[in-house]
Amino acid sequence: MDSIRVTGGNRLNGSIPISGAKNAALPLMIASILSPETLTLENVPRLTDVQKLAQILNNLGIDVTIAGKRPGQGEGYARTMRLNAANIVDTTAPYELVSQMRASFWVLGPLLARCGKARVSLPGGCAIGTRPVDMHLMGLEKLGAEIELDSGYVNASAPNGLTGTTIHFDKVSVGATHNVLMAASMAKGTTVLENAACEPEIGDVARCLAAMGAKIEGIDTNTLVIEGAQTMHGTTHTVLPDRIETGTYAMAVAMAGGDVMLENARADLLQSALDVLVEAGAKVEASDKGIRVSRNGNGIKPVNVETAPHPGFPTDLQAQLMALMTRAEGVSTITESIFENRFMHVQELARLGADIKLDGDTATITGVQRMKGAPVMATDLRASVSLIIAGLAAEGQTTVNRVYHLDRGFERIEEKLGNCGAQIERLSA
Ligand code: EPZ
Repeated sequence: MDSIRVTGGNRLNGSIPISGAKNAALPLMIASILSPETLTLENVPRLTDVQKLAQILNNLGIDVTIAGKRPGQGEGYARTMRLNAANIVDTTAPYELVSQMRASFWVLGPLLARCGKARVSLPGGCAIGTRPVDMHLMGLEKLGAEIELDSGYVNASAPNGLTGTTIHFDKVSVGATHNVLMAASMAKGTTVLENAACEPEIGDVARCLAAMGAKIEGIDTNTLVIEGAQTMHGTTHTVLPDRIETGTYAMAVAMAGGDVMLENARADLLQSALDVLVEAGAKVEASDKGIRVSRNGNGIKPVNVETAPHPGFPTDLQAQLMALMTRAEGVSTITESIFENRFMHVQELARLGADIKLDGDTATITGVQRMKGAPVMATDLRASVSLIIAGLAAEGQTTVNRVYHLDRGFERIEEKLGNCGAQIERLSA
């Protein structure tokens, strides 16, 4: 299994191109189920999660093609993906696949809406928490689906089709919003989703669904009003830039020092995280070209942060911020309020010399003056990248094992950081 070795101490200078967002590309690919016509997605990131979902969709009968590289295009060019669901041959998503890629559970709503039935495995637990799907099922039942749990599978049917209604989510859930929004796009009449998640990736999917034929009001707010379409069309849609990749590299620059332009990044997608970075002592300048992040001379200041649904500080940047705070000049606190168990990075950061105390959902981090490289590993994608950030400022070598977690969500990370002066390499086992 590959690992990544970082030798700490170098500042980062240069530019990093930000890829299309993983967490928008995945539901956008799933939205292709709704139409017999081709959905073309531009700016699709090269990630193993994207490949895996393409396989899962392929199993359902969806043709997925990826445009080949043209002359003059480097390894880093964004990909164009075409998905055609003219012939859905299977409405089952099996355990072996769904358990490997949780977002594939979201095929449930679109399959039900388009084919009137679906059998999708429950995803099971995962490294960051129990992650139930009760609100997905509640929303689909409200739309008229009959749902039965059988041997670890959700058997859903809608013999008379789905019908719009008002659905209130007790808790903000990205996945439940995606699932029910996609189903409601083909339901008869009007659906109102109250207390819906308003993460930018949901707005991106909603815009695509609107281009495919659904009428959607309230995009980017917590109340979505959807008038379903009888048939959905094909369209071409460009995946929005990845705000979590943006925030991750911004934290890497704040950690290592230096000056880096994050090309194509959009500040409006992660304002709360950028505000925290400024508080921590980084300089952040947004323009239409991207976001320039620098830290030169001054030290890292401690911050107190609690994760929250958008527009709050994202849970997907919690581990990276914690890595940065390990070197702050003082004591920081970070409270994780979305997932109950998203602290796997704490023990690994401690192996590098970090001083972190956990009390329930709050971590207290006392900044230390130096950290020392060590072999580390993590069982979650964002936790893994936090160890790379820590390694950038640790003395000597940090080897991050189980790199497949990183490849799920970060495109060519060693190249992007290496081009800015980091000493980083991939070691093939
Ligand atoms: C999405 O996961 C993202 N995944 C996660 O990104 C992200 O951390 C998370 O949203 C929160 O922003 C993708 O977009 C592919 P939720 P999701 O439903 O949809 C509880 C990454 O690193 N809940 O918003 O699974 C749940 O347990 C990943 O890229 C219920 O109780 O998250 C959690 O506590 C990891 N019942 C909270 O809601 C439900 O039916 C929020 O989860 C559904 C969720």
